[in-house]
Amino acid sequence: MKGNRIIGTGTGVPSRIVTNDDLAKIVDTSDEWIVSRTGIRERRIAEENETTSDFSAWAAIKAMEMAGVDAEEIDLIIVATLSPDRLLPATACIVQGKIGATNAACFDLEAACSGFVYGLTVANGLMPELGVKTALVIGAETLSRVLDWTDRNTCVLFADGGGAAVLRHEGGDRGILATYMRSDGSAPPPWLAVTPGVADLSPLGDKVSKDFAITMEGKEVFKFGVRALPDAVMGALARTDGLTIDDVDWIIPHQANLRIIDAAAKALDIPREKFIVNLEKYGNTSAGTIPIALDEANRDGRIKEGDIVALSGFGAGLTWGGVILRW
Ligand code: UT7
Repeated sequence: MKGNRIIGTGTGVPSRIVTNDDLAKIVDTSDEWIVSRTGIRERRIAEENETTSDFSAWAAIKAMEMAGVDAEEIDLIIVATLSPDRLLPATACIVQGKIGATNAACFDLEAACSGFVYGLTVANGLMPELGVKTALVIGAETLSRVLDWTDRNTCVLFADGGGAAVLRHEGGDRGILATYMRSDGSAPPPWLAVTPGVADLSPLGDKVSKDFAITMEGKEVFKFGVRALPDAVMGALARTDGLTIDDVDWIIPHQANLRIIDAAAKALDIPREKFIVNLEKYGNTSAGTIPIALDEANRDGRIKEGDIVALSGFGAGLTWGGVILRW
């Protein structure tokens, strides 16, 4: 389906900034280690009363303002998240209530760090099917609530916040040109998971454990990221009408680690300057990283009308995927 265009973007992040030096006070780490191994310098962390639906709603309001779209015009809200406010109801419904999008159908989508790319793909596919003209696709997280703050392998990487895009069916040759989604659930034990989870609890009697947290095999996930980031771009490009990597003006990758992005630039043999990167300010907000980076580059004018933009997500599942847009 062609002619579905992003007409507004927005970012919603907590105002609390946590620097690498702040983290060095609670775990055995250093600014030097974090910057040299990941590129991250600081990240946003939620206050006690802030949740994924807040970041989603803040981002959505800014995206709707840019698009010049009223909340009642939104037909569909997809929130991609692995850290929903609650297991029930869907965070997308909570967001609907917060922004007053009374006419929208709402659901959450869990594809970890590929969530925003998956969300755009699903919205793009549903638009003709359901007669959806205007959709809000959001990627947002409160990962600080699923982190073990004594584990230096993970707590220095992940963070809170999100971004949103208003996708509108306009026709014409701008907008989403191709999408590509992949998954591989075969990696035992999970390389990237939140444990214990609901599956670990007894059906009778157990109280829900509070000390569940992200666990990760960093090296394996790193190697996967180096493979998946370029594959997502090339897989989506292969589904366009003949675009090649040389036609791509901007790549907006999932922002997990600067070294993964550097390796992908080499693998794709394209200049590193074509990658939009802001992980030094926000860390890894999982489903939030791509829409936050997209919004930054959209607002500061780097992305111009007609540019070919490639989004590339990869993460737990394993999942990965790409979207090619003509801006
Ligand atoms: O959204 C996708 C999610 N995740 C990712 O994309 C993460 C992918 N993986 C990575 O980004 C990297 O593997 C990490 C940044 C997590 C780790 O970098 P690394 O270069 O693979 O380091 P390592 O795991 O090999 O650890 C090297 C050393 C170890 O010490 P020893 O065993 O050599 O003495 C670690 O214990 O660094 C130590 N280390 C730390 N030191 C200071 C691990 N974390 C830290 C830390 N501060 N925060």
